[in-house]
Amino acid sequence: MERTDAEALDRDDPLARLRDRFDLPDGLIYLDGNSLGPLPRGVAERVGRLVGAEWRDDLITSWNAHGWYDLPATVGAKLERLLGAEPGTVTVGDSTSVQLFKLLVAGARLRPDRRVVVTEPGNFPTDSYVIDGVARLLGLSVRWWSASSEPLSDVLDDDVAVVSLCHVDYRLGRMHDGAAVTRAVHDAGAVVLWDLCHSAGAVAVDLAGWAADLAVGCGYKYLNGGPGAPAFGYVAPRWLGVVEQPITGWFGHATPFALERDYRPADGVRRLLSGTTPVIGTAVLDTALDAFDGVAMADVRRKSLALTDLFLTLAAERLASFGVEAEVPRDHAARGSQLCLRLPEAYGFVQALVARRVVGDFREPDLARFGVAPLYTRFADVYDAVEHMAAVLAAGEHRRPENVARAAVT
Ligand SMILES: Cc1ncc(COP(=O)(O)O)c(C=O)c1O
Repeated sequence: MERTDAEALDRDDPLARLRDRFDLPDGLIYLDGNSLGPLPRGVAERVGRLVGAEWRDDLITSWNAHGWYDLPATVGAKLERLLGAEPGTVTVGDSTSVQLFKLLVAGARLRPDRRVVVTEPGNFPTDSYVIDGVARLLGLSVRWWSASSEPLSDVLDDDVAVVSLCHVDYRLGRMHDGAAVTRAVHDAGAVVLWDLCHSAGAVAVDLAGWAADLAVGCGYKYLNGGPGAPAFGYVAPRWLGVVEQPITGWFGHATPFALERDYRPADGVRRLLSGTTPVIGTAVLDTALDAFDGVAMADVRRKSLALTDLFLTLAAERLASFGVEAEVPRDHAARGSQLCLRLPEAYGFVQALVARRVVGDFREPDLARFGVAPLYTRFADVYDAVEHMAAVLAAGEHRRPENVARAAVT
């Protein structure tokens, strides 16, 4: 495999032109869009308009005049297409952790006679922490499912209320079969809550087709909504009129400005809201999602798999001889949009690459993790990144003192 082969793949790539929708720094190979997506074009102008013509000039009238009040629904509608969700089922606000809290409580309330939440030990920590917190609050118990060693059916019974899972695993990028898992959960009479943080915008998600019940995900990874962007929440149409989330703030009220004494939830997915919409962050996400205009998620998925396949080929050719192992599920159906390398000096390895302007991240204890984002990652980026990886290993840069000193955010 030569660089010209990767360049040929870029030339034939129908999504190649989408890279222009991002303001990417020159010369940077950015493989960390699974942590923080880059700046989409149009966002800076939108923020300028928002704080100028809207906030400064039109002040509070902007809630009506500039669509601030409807932003959660406006952004929700854009996300529905990317998530294969039914119209009027997605809204945005809060962080993923808070959305998880609200929807876990709501899910457990859909099955009031059942006392167990099933989840995986390999979750992103916030999922496990929130599940534990909700279990303690509601007097439920947590049952751990080890997906690699036992079938889901082994941990399901008629005491399971909610099964809460990350669709794509944050460390190794292993992806669940959304339809099959949802079916198994429903066969056991439980409801499923999907965390789509590492799926939304990167892999084809089909919430309606899976018949999923509830879902959450964050806005700042493959959706490129900026640091701390609002998260999203999904409620299936059959639960919209029934679901009761616990943070019953006025923005989720049926008529917030009637200022009634008692809480009555809004009819639709707006009932997931709690407090005042964080307008600036939500407007940024709104504009960021325009990068997906006219883009079919099936094409995004096809390119993502081609990028990770290329990485696997190159890693076998150029990195295996250093004893470095590529951790990417070989089966396409079980693969998200990221790649990992396992090596004891993973932290120093990632830092050495950053010094070479190849950005990925480190995950405890021994993983170097790289995300591929089909809207802007080029095949040549993957090729060049592997060349840099081989050079780091050959020169021992991953062991140099300046690369092994830990920073607060890894
Ligand atoms: C699977 C998963 N869930 C949740 C989060 C983060 O949640 P929050 O938006 O509350 O920080 C992450 C962050 O990386 C994640 O990977």
